Amino acid sequence: MNQRTCLSVILAAGEGTRMKSALPKVLHQIAGLPMVAHVVKAAEAAGASGVALVIGHGADEMRKTAAKFAPEAETFVQEKRLGTAHAVIAARAAISKGYDDVLVMFGDTPLIDAQALATARRKLAEGAAVAVIGFRPPNPAGYGRLIEQAGRLVAIREEKDCSEAEKKIGFCNAGMMAVAGAHALKLLDAVGNKNAKGEYYLTDIVEIAGAQGLDVVATEASFENALGINNRAELAQAEAIWQQRRRHEAMLSGVTLIAPETVYFSHDTEIGADTIVEPNVWFGPGVMVASGAKIHAFSHIEGATIASNCNVGPFARLRPGADLRNKAKVGNFCEVKQAVIEEGAKVNHLTYIGDARVGAGANIGAGTITCNYDGYSKFFTDIGEGAFIGSNSSLVAPVTIGNGGYIASGSVITETVPDDALAFGRARQKTIPGKGKELRERFASAAAAKKKAAGADH
Ligand code: UD1
Ligand code: CA
Repeated sequence: MNQRTCLSVILAAGEGTRMKSALPKVLHQIAGLPMVAHVVKAAEAAGASGVALVIGHGADEMRKTAAKFAPEAETFVQEKRLGTAHAVIAARAAISKGYDDVLVMFGDTPLIDAQALATARRKLAEGAAVAVIGFRPPNPAGYGRLIEQAGRLVAIREEKDCSEAEKKIGFCNAGMMAVAGAHALKLLDAVGNKNAKGEYYLTDIVEIAGAQGLDVVATEASFENALGINNRAELAQAEAIWQQRRRHEAMLSGVTLIAPETVYFSHDTEIGADTIVEPNVWFGPGVMVASGAKIHAFSHIEGATIASNCNVGPFARLRPGADLRNKAKVGNFCEVKQAVIEEGAKVNHLTYIGDARVGAGANIGAGTITCNYDGYSKFFTDIGEGAFIGSNSSLVAPVTIGNGGYIASGSVITETVPDDALAFGRARQKTIPGKGKELRERFASAAAAKKKAAGADH
């Protein structure tokens, strides 16, 4: 955004007891991504090149997760939870590297958007020493109040320290702020803990900066930006808001969602224009859908690539490694895992295709199963171009069906089928004229004799 360098300090040392969870609070997910990772993404989108993660509770798990989603992030342990200013100071080593801007963010405030952060940074570029992100919650109780005078922010008063008059202020502290790197440590080190909670409040730097004649301002963000997550009900609320934003974005980018409120995206779902998504579709992580595809109702899709003009579902399950090429079709009650379905191939009904290639234009009959697992290892099934697999066939991997191979329905195929060959892997049908009638008569008289004998007993 500008030439100024920026460090994001993300506070995530809290225990999050109200989540009632063995997992650290900020590792709970929204759209399949830990909430702290959403915060990192927003920071990076706002131009942060450095990320300092302040952790406490569940440090090992936090480090492991951070290594995955933000390998460049440095972690700092806040041994004792003495307040938000104390937590920021835990990242002293990162702050003292000399960034122009320091963005302080909370790991449990996942919906903060890059725009709100960028606005605060812009204030620093214009000369402010501190720019606090404010918002107007429907109910301000519990939040720090922003006390302004003549367009300047003069103080942030925590609810517990507020006078009755101050409690009436609706403009609240979202918690996050941008601080000029040149002043950050000096301001933080000046914070004391003489307040109702006996904590080192980050918010005190507002008055400290003011007393030093530095410029302090507040910016305003939407309520959603400041939504802090403390329990699972709020987690679900954040998920709902995230999904709503994403659906809106998808529709504006050319995707048709017939019943948007029933479609769930992951943080990384990519979906092309002119794709139509019917109601009740779930996109797990790692899905890419090109343009012009049709995703029919009740499909569950994760880790899959879907090329243009494919047809998926209704009731299809695409698992990781499903790779559908142009115009491929995966129909109802089919499961595809780690398999390429090449151009125009059809896997239409009640089928499992795993660890396989289905060649271009091949047709997989209803109830076909690739038997890919012997209880210990997975094996590959290769189905050639234009092959025809009759219904209810079992393809016992490893096995190859050549191009144009033709499998009789009900077959159990264990050996290579060459190009254009016909393979039967089942017993031949035997037909005995009149035998059906004879059996029926025999069974009927046996049943009658049994009934009669039972009657004689009484
Ligand atoms: C804070 C703000 C308040 C604001 C509110 C918005 C201060 C003093 N108050 O209050 O003005 O309205 O957020 O939600 O900043 N944390 C640590 N270590 C600590 C203390 C906190 O890592 O020692 C982390 C927490 O895990 C959390 C964040 O900092 O992610 C905020 O701390 P919390 O105690 O929830 O602050 P609030 O009382 O909500
Ligand atoms: Ca809080």
